[in-house]
Amino acid sequence: MEVVICKTKEEASALAAKMINEAVKKNPKTVLGLATGSTPVLMYNEMAKAVKAKKVSYKEVKSWNLDEYVGLAPTHDQSYRYFMNENLFKKIDIKLSNTHVLNGLAKNPEKECKAYEAQIKKAGGIDIQVLGIGSDGHIAFNEPGTSLSSRTSVVYLTPSTIKDNARLFFGGDMTKVPTQALSMGVGTICEAKKIIMLAFGKGKADALKGCVEGGMTQFCTASALQAHNDTWIFCDEEAASKLKLKKYYAWRSAVKLGL
Ligand code: PGA
Repeated sequence: MEVVICKTKEEASALAAKMINEAVKKNPKTVLGLATGSTPVLMYNEMAKAVKAKKVSYKEVKSWNLDEYVGLAPTHDQSYRYFMNENLFKKIDIKLSNTHVLNGLAKNPEKECKAYEAQIKKAGGIDIQVLGIGSDGHIAFNEPGTSLSSRTSVVYLTPSTIKDNARLFFGGDMTKVPTQALSMGVGTICEAKKIIMLAFGKGKADALKGCVEGGMTQFCTASALQAHNDTWIFCDEEAASKLKLKKYYAWRSAVKLGL
């Protein structure tokens, strides 16, 4: 794991976007795994800026998103499909038909999840997976107590995640947040060739500590990334504040990135 500690989330987001843009320039057919939430928005804006400036093109890129709420139509303004269209896909030159988000209205959700995994496999697997981290250490919607080898499936949100998501979305109303989702599994995520995780703010400090320096445990599913050999965490100083070896990580990653 490389932990890149920046003064601000703006700086961290720009560095993460640069890593993705460089990869797409090198391989225009890059397969991306994408995430929703408040965290990746700045990075998506940076990617959009680069496309606008014609520094990179996402025309041949394909994407698969991490998760979707059960029961929300793709047109619902709180669905993750809607979020992706508004926050990234409309702002870059990716073909909408090349973007994939699990269908929260699938009649047979387990079949939907199996088919999603098969699509990813057919595309050659995810080259770069973008991740946020929940304040409870989750990646995608893999809550504490989820097997670290889990596959894409129907999952159940914890009260803490429902509270976090109501704070930022759903107009603050916890009763409006769906309690189930379709989510890529921890095992599915860990098959990505490269992983880029973003973590900002002091509300993520405990989760990041568990992810980077805690034992590998299903009670912090992000800790599974310790066994992944090309994971980059871009974070701000607040999120990194509880890491014991933060000075070492900052120095090592700066040398590796040539900063
Ligand atoms: P957030 O969510 O970006 O809205 O903080 C992150 C997550 O739950 O993965």
